[in-house]
Amino acid sequence: MRIVFIGPPGAGKGTQAARVCQALGIACLSTGEVLRQAQASDTAAGREIAARLEAGELVPDDLVLRIVTDRLADTDCHHGFLFDGFPRTVPQAVELDKLMDDHHTRLDAAVLFEVGEQELLDRLACRGRADDKKELIRQRLRDYAKLTTPLAEYYQQRGVLHRIDAAGTTDQVYGRIARALGLP
Ligand code: AP5
Ligand code: MG
Repeated sequence: MRIVFIGPPGAGKGTQAARVCQALGIACLSTGEVLRQAQASDTAAGREIAARLEAGELVPDDLVLRIVTDRLADTDCHHGFLFDGFPRTVPQAVELDKLMDDHHTRLDAAVLFEVGEQELLDRLACRGRADDKKELIRQRLRDYAKLTTPLAEYYQQRGVLHRIDAAGTTDQVYGRIARALGLP
């Protein structure tokens, strides 16, 4: 299966991605994880990524697309993949469709995590990642609302959107995803 997970910060994308990838035996990519590693590199791209992450802003599409293009070419992606936190903008989604066309494949499911803002803030307050400071979370939520929520319409039109209630325990949320995707 070829799946993307979309949702606001703290929605549980990473938590559920690990379980779904294990259940399906597919490759998993969190663009956030890759970018956090890449920010340490002493290159122009590394410095640009670090500045964006420190400001809680999205990294430019071209930098993220380079990472995804490289990853899609890996042989383990040929049998399916799950992208956690990608795409995050309509231009990224358009490029992903083009990349999959090049590989003669198409997306099976876009899972949209829906959860109230207070629950997100409570979850992230307990986690303590560098970008979990209150003002950075606000910025990340603003970008999500403005740049990422249009993807719901984009994937709805392509008939692959699954809206998931992401409140409740991790087991409850996994159960909802598993039912939506027809997982064993
Ligand atoms: P990224 O790392 O993807 O961060 P995010 O989208 O803000 O989401 P999080 O990782 O914070 O949350 P999550 O939904 O994975 O939830 P988690 O499972 O951790 O991106 C970071 C940054 O990188 C972005 O801000 C941007 O700058 C850049 N970036 C990444 N991708 C990009 C792209 N495509 N384009 C441009 N820029 C990009 O859960 C959160 C917490 O809640 C955890 O502590 C967890 O244990 C807990 N939890 C999870 N589920 C539950 C539950 N059901 N009940 C209670 N607690 C729960
Ligand atoms: Mg995550």
